[in-house]
Amino acid sequence: MKVQQLGISGITENEPLNIRIEPEYDPSAEVVLYQGDTRQLICQLPDRSVKLIVSSPPYNLGKEYETRIQLSKYVDTQAEIISEMSRTLDDTGSICWQVGNYVSKGEVFPLDIFYYQIFKDLGFKLRNRIIWHFGHGLHAQNRFSGRYETILWFTKSDQYTFNLDDVRVEQKYPGKRHFKGPNKGKPSSNPKGKNPSDFWGFIEEEWQSGVFDIPNVKSNHPEKTIHPCQFPIELVERCVLALTDEGDRVFDPFAGVGSTIIAGIRNNRKAIAAEQNEQYVQIARERIAQFAQGKLNIREIGTQIHKPSKDDRVAQKPIEWQSDGELL
Ligand SMILES: C[S@@+](CC[C@H](N)C(=O)[O-])C[C@H]1O[C@@H](n2cnc3c(N)ncnc32)[C@H](O)[C@@H]1O
Repeated sequence: MKVQQLGISGITENEPLNIRIEPEYDPSAEVVLYQGDTRQLICQLPDRSVKLIVSSPPYNLGKEYETRIQLSKYVDTQAEIISEMSRTLDDTGSICWQVGNYVSKGEVFPLDIFYYQIFKDLGFKLRNRIIWHFGHGLHAQNRFSGRYETILWFTKSDQYTFNLDDVRVEQKYPGKRHFKGPNKGKPSSNPKGKNPSDFWGFIEEEWQSGVFDIPNVKSNHPEKTIHPCQFPIELVERCVLALTDEGDRVFDPFAGVGSTIIAGIRNNRKAIAAEQNEQYVQIARERIAQFAQGKLNIREIGTQIHKPSKDDRVAQKPIEWQSDGELL
């Protein structure tokens, strides 16, 4: 069961969309995809020209696209970029900043704690600290395995776009009724669905529990590319749908393989993005082209995540763990 129908439907190979991609800022382009340092693009963008900045920055973990530096230096560099970037945001706009942990010698530094202060110093107001929970990842040996990251949602002012109705999820118990008061006996739920909450979890069916259901993009995910830290498009779509209107501009300063761009154009928004790595930019271009032809695999919000039944071999305890019917 689908909770909601998202995006442009009916794109076919015979009637592809015509999406204009410009390599430098052009106010009329549907997509601006800049290859190079994000600061070079940011300085091209006019004041208040974007409605939503949504991104996952490098975490300074020494991934293939980054050089590990001292944490304080990393934070200072990011603060400089964010300060310049905030100039480009509309007064009614939002920033969604998705981060995990920086880890050094086994010590964990939750990056959102550092980023919170950067945004606060610039006058931003936190509206939600969203937990994005997923079921897979590295198995830690000396601490509990990490299974969530966060999205800090900040607004520039107290007047901001928030289209809650566009991202509501189905009620768990739509038949519930008020049991007292003036509305006694009347339905107590909102017929448009319930607020999806600030916990975007990895559960079997979102419509059963009312939380978003976004698996992280790993090898069995239909959107997977060679990028090691890719956003699921559906995660960005929720931010786009809730925090912008059609025709608005969405900006991703660390674009990777272009998940934000797809989430934007799929929902009739304009997209601006910067990515330093040439190969990722090429993949982003290919994904946009595939999307325009109706050929891009995108995991739809509300799609069930495969859960093995208890009879599947993978769900059963290995025979080696048993001795005379008892667990070792
Ligand atoms: C965590 S990844 C983002 C992945 C992206 N959300 C996606 O779905 O593909 C961070 C990206 O930022 C890029 N990057 C890092 N520093 C950059 C800079 N100064 N300018 C432009 N891109 C940068 C990296 O190459 C990397 O692809």
